[in-house]
Amino acid sequence: MPGAETFRVAADAYDRHVGRYGAPLAAALIDFAGVEPGMRALDVGCGPGALAAALAERLGAASVAAADPSEPFVEACRAGVPGAEVVAAGAEALPFADGAFDATLSQLVVNFMRDAEAGVREMARVTRPGGIVASCVWDYTGEMTLLRAFWDAASEVDPDRGAAADGGAVMGWCADGELAQLWRDAGLADVHSGTLAVRAAYTDFEDLWSPLLTGVAPSGAFCTSLDDDGRAALHNAYRRRLGVGDGPFELTARAWAVAGTVP
Ligand SMILES: C[S@@+](CC[C@H](N)C(=O)[O-])C[C@H]1O[C@@H](n2cnc3c(N)ncnc32)[C@H](O)[C@@H]1O
Repeated sequence: MPGAETFRVAADAYDRHVGRYGAPLAAALIDFAGVEPGMRALDVGCGPGALAAALAERLGAASVAAADPSEPFVEACRAGVPGAEVVAAGAEALPFADGAFDATLSQLVVNFMRDAEAGVREMARVTRPGGIVASCVWDYTGEMTLLRAFWDAASEVDPDRGAAADGGAVMGWCADGELAQLWRDAGLADVHSGTLAVRAAYTDFEDLWSPLLTGVAPSGAFCTSLDDDGRAALHNAYRRRLGVGDGPFELTARAWAVAGTVP
C-alpha cells in the first residue's frame, strides 16, 4: 500500500487536510451502511476519529471501538471520543473476538492497508453473522477535487514523479466496482455499492495549502519532497487548477462506498 507511513503525523495536520471532509463523510457512510441505534460498531483505520465520533453520537461511545496503527492518531481518537475503546492495530490483525461487532466500518482506509484482502476478511471475522461490513474510498481519478487537482498539478511540475505518485494511478480499490469485488472475494453477502458526495469549506487557498507542508498523506509527502522552486511551482499550478485565490471557497469530494453482510 502506498503511503500509510505518511499518517504518523500530528492529527491537526490531517484534520486540516482531508480530515476536513471526515464528519460529513462519516454521516453519509453510516447511513449508507444502515447502522442503527442498539448496534455495537468498530471503526477500522480510525485516524483522528471522525467516523468513531459519528458512531459514538448515534450509538453511544460505550458501543464503539476503533483501531489504527498510527500512535498519534490513536491518541487523538481517544481524546476526541472519550468512552470508546481505541486500540493501536492494523486491519490485518484486529485484537477483537470473532463476531464482537454488529457493524464494522472503515473510512478512506482500504487502499492504505498492507493487505486489503486480509484486512477485509478480518473486518468480517470480528463482525457477527448477519452483521454489516462497510467502507468507502476516495474517487481519486474523478471527483475528489482536492486530490485530483493536486496530482494533476504534481504531474505538471514534475511529470515523471508526479504521475508515478498520482493517487488515481497507485491506489487500489478506487475504481468503480473494485470495492464490491473485494467485498465478494472476502465472502461477504448482499454486497451493494454506491457513491457518497461531501463538501468542505476553506477560508482561502493558503488554508488548503498549509497542511501539505507538514508532509501529511501521500500528497503532503510529495509536496515536501520537492525543492523550494518545485514547491513554489506546485503551489501556483495547484491554485490555478483549482481556480481559487484569496477568498473563501468550497470543494466537493466523491467517495465510492460498499457494504455487505457476514453470512
Ligand atoms: C486517509 S486516513 C483515514 C482516517 C479516518 N478513517 C478518516 O476518515 O479520517 C487513512 C488511515 O488509515 C490508517 N492505516 C494505515 N495502514 C492501515 C492498516 N494496515 N490498517 C488500518 N488502518 C491503516 C492510517 O494510519 C490512517 O489513519
